[in-house]
Amino acid sequence: MSRPRLFFCDTSSVTSPALLSRYRELLEPAETARLDRFRFEKDRHSFLVSHALLRTVLSEFTGTDAASLQFAAGEHGKPYLDSTRQQSTAPLAFNLSHSGSYAAVAVRQGQAALGVDIEFHRAERRFAELSRRYFADSEVRALDAEPGHARMGRFYDIWTLKEAYLKARGTGLQLPLEDFAFAFSADRLDFNARPDLDDCPQRWRFWCARFPGEFSVALAIESEESPEPVLELRVPLGESRPTAFARIVACSR
Ligand SMILES: CC(C)(COP(=O)(O)OP(=O)(O)OC[C@H]1O[C@@H](n2cnc3c(N)ncnc32)[C@H](O)[C@@H]1OP(=O)(O)O)[C@@H](O)C(=O)NCCC(=O)NCCS
Repeated sequence: MSRPRLFFCDTSSVTSPALLSRYRELLEPAETARLDRFRFEKDRHSFLVSHALLRTVLSEFTGTDAASLQFAAGEHGKPYLDSTRQQSTAPLAFNLSHSGSYAAVAVRQGQAALGVDIEFHRAERRFAELSRRYFADSEVRALDAEPGHARMGRFYDIWTLKEAYLKARGTGLQLPLEDFAFAFSADRLDFNARPDLDDCPQRWRFWCARFPGEFSVALAIESEESPEPVLELRVPLGESRPTAFARIVACSR
C-alpha cells in the first residue's frame, strides 16, 4: 500500500529571483491571472511558491512536465488532475494548503479522498470564541479542560483536523462543523460524526503534526488501511533540506 507523502516549503526562504521567475513559467494563464490579482506582495509570493511546490511534486508522481499539468476543479473548487489532458492515467490524490510562510502538499497514489490543512498559531485569534462558534460541544469542553499554555495549540490541532476532513470531502463549508468531532487522548485521535453527516467514521484515518514556528498540520485520508505519512521539507526546483523538522503528535487508531 502506498505511503502518503506530505511535502512542506518555507515559502519565505525562497528569495532567489532566478528561481521565482522559473516558478512563474510553470503556471498556466488562469494561475498567473490569480497571482497578479493579489494586492500584497507577501500573498503573491506565498501563492507562487505554493503552486510551484504543487506542480513540481505532482510532476514527479505523474512523469508529466510541471508546466504541462492540467487541473480541473470539483463542484466546490477542489482541484484535481484532469486525466483526459495528461500523460499519466494512474489515479493520484493530492491537496494543497498554505498558512503564514508555509505551504503543504499531500499526495497519495490511488483514489482515496485526501485533505490537508496547515495553520500558523496566531495568538491574536480569539480562539475561545471561535471554538464556541464552530466546534462540537465535546471539542469545546475538551479545549476548556486543557491547561492555559496548551489551549491555543490544541485549538489549532482541532481546527486543522476539521479543515482537512472538509477538504478531503471537497465540500468546503457545506458540512456543519459541529456535526463531527475529534477527541485527543495522549497520542490517539478519535473521530465521530453525527448520522446526519452521512459518513462512516471508521473509513477515515487522520494524523495531526506540529512543527516549530508554531504550526499545526492535519492530514485526512478516506482509507481504513493507510500507513503513516512521510514528511519532507522542500524548495521547489532547489536543494532538499533535512526532513526531521515536524513530528506527528496524534493519529487515529
Ligand atoms: C478552500 C477551502 C476549502 C479551504 O480554505 P483555506 O483553509 O482558507 O485554505 P488552504 O490554504 O488550506 O487551502 C487552499 C487550497 O485548497 C484547495 N482547494 C480549493 N477548494 C477546495 C475544496 N473545496 N476542497 C479541498 N481543497 C480545495 C486549493 O488548492 C487551494 O489552493 P489555492 O487557493 O492556492 O488554489 C475554503 O473554501 C474553506 O472552506 N475555508 C473554511 C475556512 C474556515 O472557516 N474553517 C473553519 C475550520 S474550524
